[in-house]
Amino acid sequence: MLIAGNNISFSYDFDGSSLALQNVDIRIEQGEFVAILGCNGSGKSTLVKHFNALLQLQQGELRVAQIDARNEKDIWYLRRLCGMVFQNPDQQFVSSVVEEEIAFGLENYETPRDEIPNRIQAALALVEMSGYAKRAPNTLSGGEKQRIALAGVLALEPEIIIFDEVTAMLDPNGRQEVVEIMHKLHGAGKTIIAITHYVEEAVAADKVILMHKGRVLACGGPRAILSDLDLMREAELIPPLPVRLYHDLRQAGVHLRHCPLTDEELVEEIWQLRSKI
Ligand SMILES: Nc1ncnc2c1ncn2[C@@H]1O[C@H](COP(=O)(O)OP(=O)(O)OP(=O)(O)O)[C@@H](O)[C@H]1O
Ligand SMILES: [Mg+2]
Repeated sequence: MLIAGNNISFSYDFDGSSLALQNVDIRIEQGEFVAILGCNGSGKSTLVKHFNALLQLQQGELRVAQIDARNEKDIWYLRRLCGMVFQNPDQQFVSSVVEEEIAFGLENYETPRDEIPNRIQAALALVEMSGYAKRAPNTLSGGEKQRIALAGVLALEPEIIIFDEVTAMLDPNGRQEVVEIMHKLHGAGKTIIAITHYVEEAVAADKVILMHKGRVLACGGPRAILSDLDLMREAELIPPLPVRLYHDLRQAGVHLRHCPLTDEELVEEIWQLRSKI
């Protein structure tokens, strides 16, 4: 097990009066693509910030790659092992040149000087931004900025990459590019944890963790979770369009064989229906 947490509770208040996380259990395997889904304030960011010790464990147990997250001497190791990209890349940039931005992170983690240029090139290639080393981050589009922020994380060669709503501020094209890179990194063996509001982005995950009010409401395959209307309602989320259509059609007396999750599956189900008429 790469990440194993038991009974994690957390409060931002000094007196612990309101809990941002309540008795959360979590299991993430090496190489999994995990989507964490939940409405605003459900505790998604609070949970993942425990994985690389951005937040200190208050209650419960957490081991990441066998390391006890309470172990203060291992914090820097955890930070490098578990890279994190956030929603707003502008808030993450410290340099005015892309390659310096990536070098900054490497220097912070005491990467040998002669390795730095190669690491920068490799990271830019992974996010398909090889020609952008000399550019200023503020001249880039939202999607490009997000890919540079990701390159900064990838240069540190993390095992686990956490994407915290990285697509929230992007247009559909930018979103698609970033989602494709997430899947490419997963294909290359990385463990991916993607926090999202977009239920559609959870469809292709190996596992979905559904959060609500600081608790894990459900955890399982995307099909089981996303097609469960009651569960989605409880989580205050709108199911993917094909799922809604499936249930609406059922109410109207039209029964598709299976509940589709994607547009392609929906087309297939409707095609099957047509052949019966
Ligand atoms: N820095 C903070 N100080 C105080 N309370 C906080 C802080 N960050 C989050 N909270 C509170 O903790 C709870 C969980 O917030 P969290 O940011 O983890 O939710 P989230 O699921 O990531 O939400 P969003 O989708 O809006 O990013 C919320 O009630 C929130 O108001
Ligand atoms: Mg958040």
